[in-house]
Amino acid sequence: MLTESAALSGTRLLLGVSGGIAAYKSAELVRRARTAGAQVRVVMTAAAEHFVGAATFQALSGNPVRTGLWDPAAEAAMGHIELARWATQVLVAPASADFLARYAHGFGDDLLTTLLLATTASSAVAPAMNQQMWANPATIANVDTLRRRGIAIFGPAAGDQACGEVGMGRMLEPEEQVQALIGLQVGDRLAGRRVVVSAGPTFEDLDPVRFIGNRSSGRMGFAVAEQAALMGADVILVAGPTSLATPPRVHRVDVRSAEEMMRGVLDNLDGADIYVGAAAVADYRPVAPRPTKIKKQAEVIELKLIRNPDILATIAERRERPFLVGFAAETDNVLHYARGKLEAKRLDMIAANQVGQLGSGFDSTDNELTLLWPDGQLALPKASKQELARRLLEQVMLRLEGAER
Ligand code: CTP
Repeated sequence: MLTESAALSGTRLLLGVSGGIAAYKSAELVRRARTAGAQVRVVMTAAAEHFVGAATFQALSGNPVRTGLWDPAAEAAMGHIELARWATQVLVAPASADFLARYAHGFGDDLLTTLLLATTASSAVAPAMNQQMWANPATIANVDTLRRRGIAIFGPAAGDQACGEVGMGRMLEPEEQVQALIGLQVGDRLAGRRVVVSAGPTFEDLDPVRFIGNRSSGRMGFAVAEQAALMGADVILVAGPTSLATPPRVHRVDVRSAEEMMRGVLDNLDGADIYVGAAAVADYRPVAPRPTKIKKQAEVIELKLIRNPDILATIAERRERPFLVGFAAETDNVLHYARGKLEAKRLDMIAANQVGQLGSGFDSTDNELTLLWPDGQLALPKASKQELARRLLEQVMLRLEGAER
């Protein structure tokens, strides 16, 4: 069976660390980038050394850390121009307001700015600063200049800040930055494509306070939506009840029941190239939900349930249909049942996974999937749902592009 390599294998990441309290998070960024397969070398500005020691980055990156232009021993090992050529990807995280100003104006007065002038690698910055500094017109103009030069800007995010204020300017979390780096690598594979994703559970109301639900967290579907957007797609996420945050650049439609989900999906299907049904749609709903709370009376009560429409099967019947991907969450005989669903629902692909075990499946961040299509299958080993989502979309694109040829 085929397997694939890590998302950032082949990436030589030059990580620039400028002075800011978020510098401590960049240590975790190094670790995560390496786990994703990247080789990492770190360059620190003088200000960064006030926040984190070079030894931390050296240990985590497995490579010597460079801090200045004028170190003859370091220059002898790998000169700064060589370092600039070595990198396939540069990321400055955190990027302080001062650093952004110097980068935007083409300064070359320290090792990091010199490297940035000398490199031809794809470059990105992850700004981190106080919200007023981020909102200052000077910073806005500098970021704009960098963006127009093709530098990717990762974040920042809104939230609590180290200075005690709340607002825009918090550095993206290390895992989000790794995902953004992967997004730069996969480029715009899905540019111009429209992707509709369903995610999460559905809740079928019994009365105004009770419902029948399931354990789906929505994480897998949200990861598919996030990755599709990173790959350049126009993404609509039809989400059942979940507390997950909407991924960047994703248009979200919130629904509750299976019937609402069906409407939400069908209303957005025109012009869609791909539909990924990751939602755990309830197969049945109460025949007659009560308008008022059901009171406790009889010792035994019966619930009468009626079949819900099957969203995937309904789309499959259309003459003009998008590439259809289903999910099969099974407790046993996983591949057997999954292939049965692939055939019965006339899908183009199905992602099968085992549920009911700890550490994988419905409520966890990691998962293991096997993709099945009419004449083949591919096992994707245990990885984060983000990683699996990206691999799934790559496989979808291989088949979709093949079919369009
Ligand atoms: N699905 C759907 N509409 C439904 C039920 C399921 O579109 N009413 C989709 C799910 O989003 C998923 C796939 O069908 O992509 C398989 O869902 P699953 O619940 O595993 O399969 P079922 O067909 O409902 O079969 P069973 O519950 O008997 O295993």
